[in-house]
Amino acid sequence: MKILCINGPNLNLLGTREPDKYGTATLYDIEKQLMKEAAKLRIVVDVVQSNVEGEIVTTIQEAMGKYDGIIINPAAYTHTSIAIRDAILAVQIPTVEIHLSNVHAREEFRRFSYTAPVCIGQITGFGKFGYTMALQAIHNYLKTKQGK
Ligand code: DQA
Repeated sequence: MKILCINGPNLNLLGTREPDKYGTATLYDIEKQLMKEAAKLRIVVDVVQSNVEGEIVTTIQEAMGKYDGIIINPAAYTHTSIAIRDAILAVQIPTVEIHLSNVHAREEFRRFSYTAPVCIGQITGFGKFGYTMALQAIHNYLKTKQGK
């Protein structure tokens, strides 16, 4: 089982970026945490990050035939990107949306997600542990074919 973890804009700054909201772990720390969980689950995870919407679209397109599942933190594109939503729909790869902060407890504009409705589900507000949860969720979904 191969999973691709895609991280959107400004997530390369994790560790120093608004630590009160996003914690002090860097994206590399999160990657290491994911690798540990992946080893336990005997799956392969690749982690990527881009600040560019079109690059994220291309990454999703290129995941077709290579990955069984996607974990995505689209960051600010969550709230703006029809293109990323359409890419997820187009490739038909089961996808879990994850956010470090609880987007529903912040500004009104963060409550709306273009991507969540085309994902299996959304994990939000559990900090870096949310990535582990997302990996467990996609693993369970793919193993049982329906996540139940
Ligand atoms: C975020 C939440 C988004 O609203 C924000 O734009 C981000 C990070 C999160 O992980 O909590 O960049 O996706």
